Amino acid sequence: MRSKMFALVAAMMVIAALVTSCGPTPTPQVIKETVVVEKEVQVEVTKEVPVEVTKVVEVEKVVEVEAERPLTFVLIPKSVGHPFWGDLEKGMHKKGVEIGVQAIFHGPELALAEGQIELFDTYLNMGVDGIAMAPNDPATVPPLVEAAEEAGILFITFDTDAPESGRLMYIGTDNVVGGAQGAEAMLELLEYEGKVAIVTGGLTALNLNQRIEGFEEAAAAYPEVEIVDTVAHGDALETGVPLIEDLLTAHPDLKGIYAVSGPNIVVEALQSQDYEPGEIIVFGFDIFEPIPQLMREGWIQGTVAQRPYMEGQLVVQWMHDLVTDAAEMPDPPFVDTGTNVVLLENLDEYLSVPH
Ligand code: BGC
Repeated sequence: MRSKMFALVAAMMVIAALVTSCGPTPTPQVIKETVVVEKEVQVEVTKEVPVEVTKVVEVEKVVEVEAERPLTFVLIPKSVGHPFWGDLEKGMHKKGVEIGVQAIFHGPELALAEGQIELFDTYLNMGVDGIAMAPNDPATVPPLVEAAEEAGILFITFDTDAPESGRLMYIGTDNVVGGAQGAEAMLELLEYEGKVAIVTGGLTALNLNQRIEGFEEAAAAYPEVEIVDTVAHGDALETGVPLIEDLLTAHPDLKGIYAVSGPNIVVEALQSQDYEPGEIIVFGFDIFEPIPQLMREGWIQGTVAQRPYMEGQLVVQWMHDLVTDAAEMPDPPFVDTGTNVVLLENLDEYLSVPH
């Protein structure tokens, strides 16, 4: 009897279990509900559930964090869009990431002081920690130095200096030395005689004028060398090429051109006037594309290469170190980034390492 009862109960349990598990499967339902959360934000919740829905309550949590702003530095080049500045900007970003500071590269469209001053004002008002500028015109810099001092913001120059402005330091090429290096190499190719012309970017930037000074000083040692003209192409192909074409027309017996900026613009003019590569010796400054290509083709015989990639890194590092007192101001306040004379024979070797 006992065992019968037990069997019956067991059978009922099995049936109950079967009923539970084999009953009609609940159809999944899509339930939409709107939950009002704090700040009266309406959140629409869509849930797919088999049977019942548990109401979801969202709670917004506000946590106050005292976040530290990274040091922020701005580099204002002469202009943007010129390939020379691309390398400098890359170096700046690399160092910024490495040492954990925010580095901004922002220049005017045209290589003019006005645009640089506008940018300076903008960043000064934003309260950045330091501004580095490559001034198109050193005469415009003194009031900027004063304003930066008043605001307690570091102000330095790079690429081209404004030594009389009171700026704290200059990082870049020693342009008189660089100009003379190029002169010696070029005049050797000319066998120290003949008519030469100087081509520059603009007439106010100190670095370009110092390169010319270096060339003139070096050339003065060779009485058979005559500098016949100086032309400013404004670092722009469209407007610059006709000016150099005029130069070529005015001096058909020119033996060499020293371009302290943009030798590629000189080559465009030579090509448009049907010159052959090497017919006029062209020496330049910098080594951005297409200069290496034009050297390989024989249009440019040599160039004074600056080190913009390294310069970009040094500018950020020095601004950081000066603002955090991690370094003392060098005496004199000048960091020389150096130059190399590059000829066809050392071109590939030079390009194999970033500068
Ligand atoms: C100079 C810069 C100039 C750039 C493009 C470089 O040689 O150092 O000052 O703006 O060329 O013209």
